[in-house]
Amino acid sequence: MSTTIDHLRGQLADDLRTAGELGDVEALRVKYLGQQGLITGVVRGTDFSTLDADARREVGKRISGLKTWAEAEIGAALAEAEARAARARRRGMVDLTLPGTGARPGSLHPVTQTQMFLEDVFQSMGFRVETGFEVEEELYNFDALNIPGDHPARDMHDTFWLEDGRLLRTHTSATQVRAMRMHGAPLRAVFPGRCFRCEATDASHETTFHQFEGLMIDEDVTVSTVLAVMKALLEKVFGREVTVRLRPGYFPFVEPGFELDLQCLICGGAGCKVCKRTGWVELMPCGMVHPNVLRAGGLDPERYRGFAFGLGLTRLAMMNFSIPDIRLLGTGDLRLMDQFPAVL
Ligand code: PHE
Repeated sequence: MSTTIDHLRGQLADDLRTAGELGDVEALRVKYLGQQGLITGVVRGTDFSTLDADARREVGKRISGLKTWAEAEIGAALAEAEARAARARRRGMVDLTLPGTGARPGSLHPVTQTQMFLEDVFQSMGFRVETGFEVEEELYNFDALNIPGDHPARDMHDTFWLEDGRLLRTHTSATQVRAMRMHGAPLRAVFPGRCFRCEATDASHETTFHQFEGLMIDEDVTVSTVLAVMKALLEKVFGREVTVRLRPGYFPFVEPGFELDLQCLICGGAGCKVCKRTGWVELMPCGMVHPNVLRAGGLDPERYRGFAFGLGLTRLAMMNFSIPDIRLLGTGDLRLMDQFPAVL
């Protein structure tokens, strides 16, 4: 008798180990505990009348122990199989109450962020935004800007020439005359964009970089208009009052031409490392549009005057975000981009 009980215990344990599905476990319940089940059979098949009182008690205890154990084991296996089946069912479903898996938000390139900020500021002052063309004609990049073929200023622009005689624009000034011809005067426009120069690269020079050009043409534009607009712009950029000054500078397409300096914001003009002890930081070239350029744009220089400036957009973004090497900006490395989440 006890060998049958031990045998059944072992057999059920083995069967349970291989029963994975809910149906398998249910079949085991029938096999062992059902009406015709093996354990039920043991109870029925035992002839208690042949046993004395002690043996009857002993055998009764063993059989009911087996039954209780089997019910508990099968019950647990059923619960487990049920939970597993429920999990499998849920896998194909979307539970809207669960938290998301955490989509990683992208971010805008530091140059793009700076460009968008400047565009906003200028648009609020009535300037239109024109992007122009990266592949440009020699006429717009040079000749119309008072830089004819033999002009020494061409040497300052190491140019990528295309086989068809066109070029990759070396500065956003190339869009000036296009805009004059397209929109006439009066005109207020900014030209953000990518420029290209075939030069050696280092921490502050790349063959590809961004400029942000500005152009304002009207009957009464003067040098003091330049100063007022630039001061307003810089105060929006830096969020405080700034002092600027103009120094003479030479560019063939402006006359007079200037370099606009910003009084050092770090030392307030007293002189420090950033401003090389001068109290001023060189910020951007600018000037009154040369009459030849107005003429090339189809405008009458007797009637209209204009001013133009060229902000180094890439340089400004580097200063703004403390990026030490211009070459980092073109890598497309997301570890760099992640450090400048857009504040839009
Ligand atoms: N286009 C000039 C450059 O890239 C900069 C400039 C723009 C100067 C506008 C004066 C006015 O060097």
